[in-house]
Amino acid sequence: MVSERSAVQAGAEVLVASNRGPVSYGLEEDGTLTAKRGGGGLVSGLSAIGPETDAVWVCAALGEGDREAVRRTGGVLEPGDTGGQRVRMLDIPAEVHAAAYNSIANSVLWFVHHMLYQTPLEPVFDAEFRTQWAAYETYNAAFADALAEGAAPGAAVLVQDYHLALVPGMLRERRPDLRIAHFSHTPWAPAEYFAMLPDDIQRKLTLGILGADRANFLTRRWAENFVACAETGLGGQCERVRPEDGAPGIVALVPERKAHTTWIGVHGLGADARFLRERAHRPDVEERMAALRTEIGGPGRRTIVRVDRTELSKNIVRGLLAYQQLLADRPEWRERVVHLAFAYPSRQDLAVYRDYTAEVQRVAEAINAEYGTAGWQPVLLHVKDDFARSLAAYRLADVALVNPIRDGMNLVAKEIPVVSDAGCALVLSREAGAHEELGAHALTVNPYDVVGTAEALHEALSMDDGERAARTERLAAAATALPPARWFLDQLRELRGEDAQEGTRPA
Ligand code: G6P
Repeated sequence: MVSERSAVQAGAEVLVASNRGPVSYGLEEDGTLTAKRGGGGLVSGLSAIGPETDAVWVCAALGEGDREAVRRTGGVLEPGDTGGQRVRMLDIPAEVHAAAYNSIANSVLWFVHHMLYQTPLEPVFDAEFRTQWAAYETYNAAFADALAEGAAPGAAVLVQDYHLALVPGMLRERRPDLRIAHFSHTPWAPAEYFAMLPDDIQRKLTLGILGADRANFLTRRWAENFVACAETGLGGQCERVRPEDGAPGIVALVPERKAHTTWIGVHGLGADARFLRERAHRPDVEERMAALRTEIGGPGRRTIVRVDRTELSKNIVRGLLAYQQLLADRPEWRERVVHLAFAYPSRQDLAVYRDYTAEVQRVAEAINAEYGTAGWQPVLLHVKDDFARSLAAYRLADVALVNPIRDGMNLVAKEIPVVSDAGCALVLSREAGAHEELGAHALTVNPYDVVGTAEALHEALSMDDGERAARTERLAAAATALPPARWFLDQLRELRGEDAQEGTRPA
């Protein structure tokens, strides 16, 4: 660890910290390393950090390829691999990382914030959980150490997500001079659900984030849940204050122990219209569109499109069941619609994700067996990640289905209306963060209500062209209101005490 630390790029003015970095490395048999762009909403948002910010992005080595890259570079990645972004990758021991990432972040914190537990049997907070929690603390401390060593005096540090909930508090202890922000890319659990966690763990998580000067969320709803959890869990140690000017959505929490104020903010990450529109018109996307058209077959068939990681919270199985219900209730759509369902592998280290992936496949096959004909396959399920094909499906979408059980934002809901060629109707879960901004122009569904979702699909398919085009325009405008670069720079300016519009410091 000592030699690694000496390699930290000292004196950065802006640092970003997240578990997954902008690239991860594959290790070929001949020892060659190949860099690949990281996936998911967090990386999409942060990829907009422009070179002008000169930020250092601190992330963890996730697999053997990454560890090898750290060994070869001392942890400071080659700019050629990262598109010029300065990246410091931490080689946290594999077993510590696995316990922190798989067992705590993905199996506990993700489940709590997305309310995924089947509560009669889980969660069980036993001795094994305590060992894993200790690893989570070690992993957070490794980030806090690296950030404390790499930051210039008074630097701005923007910590990302539930993996690193303890970092702001730990970093404040090490470096009280820093300006620290935390951003939650997920929902935040309602207080009653969060209260399932052992009391001391609840306190550590909320106090960890309250080590930051700013705790930022994707929607007002998640921000309010966090405030409620802090008030419930910390009792008298926490006080809600409202600034006199009543600036919207801002509350402050003051844990008395630290006499420190954390401002709560809402920054609803939007889609990157310029990037998407340009990327979606390249030849590889056109090629995929032609291939998809062949697969869809039939003249004038409509498409219902969904694109997700095969993630428990995305509700892919109920989405398929709703489509099955549509074909049962509304036989007029048989042979006239195809459901393009792209479900890309995610977190396959966890058995529950592997089982879920198998269930998605089983239900899709059952629908095709029940309704398919010689010239019509009702569901086209693709499980191999292919960004160009996703964009091709976006362009072909007549209806976009986004029905998560719960989702921090859901960028797909924002991207499809921006890219679709002929305009699309959006069937959107009221539990997606994106619903706060897009709900007025979408068809809203309760994600658990399969019959209701089938009805919404029918309505979406039946919508006349004029209304669909008008709604798509409004959806696209709302979806692109806060593009990633501005989303990031607003937070940075706020953290530095600069005016968010003008970029100047108040007198
Ligand atoms: C999505 C979520 C983020 C999360 C990321 C982790 O992007 O929106 O909140 O950090 O997934 O995914 P990973 O594949 O790194 O576990």
